[in-house]
Amino acid sequence: MRTEHLLGLLLGTEEDWPRAFEELVRRLGPVSANGRDHTLATERITIEPFDLRAKPRYHLVIDRLAYWYYVPREWLKKIALMDDVYLLNSPFTFQSMEKHAAYCAMMRLGLKVPPTWLVPYKNPVDHAKYAYTAAKYNQPFDLEEVAGHVGYPLFMKPYDGGAWRGVSRIGDPRALHQAYDASGEMLMHLQASVENYDSFARSLTIGPDVMAMRFRPEMPMHERYAVQHDFLSAESGAEVVAISRLINAFFRWEFNSCESLVVSSEVYPIDYANACPDISITSLHYYFPWAIGALLKWSVFCAVTGRRAQVDLDTRRYFEVADSDRTYSEKLAEYLKLADEYFDTEHYLDFCATSLALVDDMVRDWVDSAAFDALLVDTVRATYPAAEHDKFVAHFRGLIGLWLKEN
Ligand SMILES: Nc1ncnc2c1ncn2[C@@H]1O[C@H](COP(=O)(O)OP(=O)(O)O)[C@@H](O)[C@H]1O
Ligand SMILES: [Mg+2]
Repeated sequence: MRTEHLLGLLLGTEEDWPRAFEELVRRLGPVSANGRDHTLATERITIEPFDLRAKPRYHLVIDRLAYWYYVPREWLKKIALMDDVYLLNSPFTFQSMEKHAAYCAMMRLGLKVPPTWLVPYKNPVDHAKYAYTAAKYNQPFDLEEVAGHVGYPLFMKPYDGGAWRGVSRIGDPRALHQAYDASGEMLMHLQASVENYDSFARSLTIGPDVMAMRFRPEMPMHERYAVQHDFLSAESGAEVVAISRLINAFFRWEFNSCESLVVSSEVYPIDYANACPDISITSLHYYFPWAIGALLKWSVFCAVTGRRAQVDLDTRRYFEVADSDRTYSEKLAEYLKLADEYFDTEHYLDFCATSLALVDDMVRDWVDSAAFDALLVDTVRATYPAAEHDKFVAHFRGLIGLWLKEN
């Protein structure tokens, strides 16, 4: 018996990881599980009118488009609700649980989110009822007083932010007013700055797999992820992983990245609603083979084992832990159990060790091949100006070479 699974890719401008993913799925061949052979194929999804009752051919969809393009976003909701297509990120929670909702939920769970306030819009909301409503109900407020509660320096950033849009670090009342005046129609948070952190950990999470990487936001894109193992103590490292897995299980996000700032032994999560994060070779370099391998394994696991997608959340069980009198670390341990239950982690690891036992070697062989090098060169050519091609090809070859040596 052979079951076929079609994995749909919903893509924007990127070429590199999709080509990598397609190639690896081709090389994978049939996967045996539960006494059956499964074959997998990929297909890039195109945008077109759709009948809400049409039956999609896809078993699972990896989406990197719907966060800004609403035609595929609505199609994703349709296939999730009507057709049980497996999505790595639920469009329902990603649309409704922006940064603000994620802060609220994680504060409720006891995570060390820095003190954060929401302030009303600077400019009037464009709505016929605004003037009347504002005149009747909007309280005048003193922005400096709010900033005083948060404390300087602070970050002003949109409640639904991403890609550093509208983010500023503010040191005094003058800068505060300037930034607020410039915020216009954006709805802003004021958040206490975590100062002098020892490290910025950015963890890429795919299913239950988490890779915590040292991130240097001040560097140019190709140098932001530092190749540095053990940059966190064992305890902080475990905490960063636990927080990432918790957040993802809580919201049913399976392809996300979480940012935490670590000050001695304290872990402060600051940004963790980054659906379908950038995983291009030119950003991840050394970590790219890990990422593409994890994406392959988790997608195949979901498709082949018939894992069911869940569009509803299970907040109450987490809140019960949050509201108990456990300590912070006891709570994290409990959350981790819930997260592992959600991700079916044990089953996944067992599946990787049996049905996908050859995948790590397959990924390694491919990264070592001329085909991978051609992909790397094409990606550099598409990303950088001609004068910099040689420099960047050498740079990324060096980092990939390091990964091959260490793996
Ligand atoms: N509370 C904070 N303390 C220190 N740095 C912060 C804080 N909030 C944001 N930053 C800095 O600003 C950057 C962008 O803010 P972030 O919340 O990650 O927004 P975005 O969603 O746009 O990435 C972060 O990567 C970090 O460098
Ligand atoms: Mg961020």
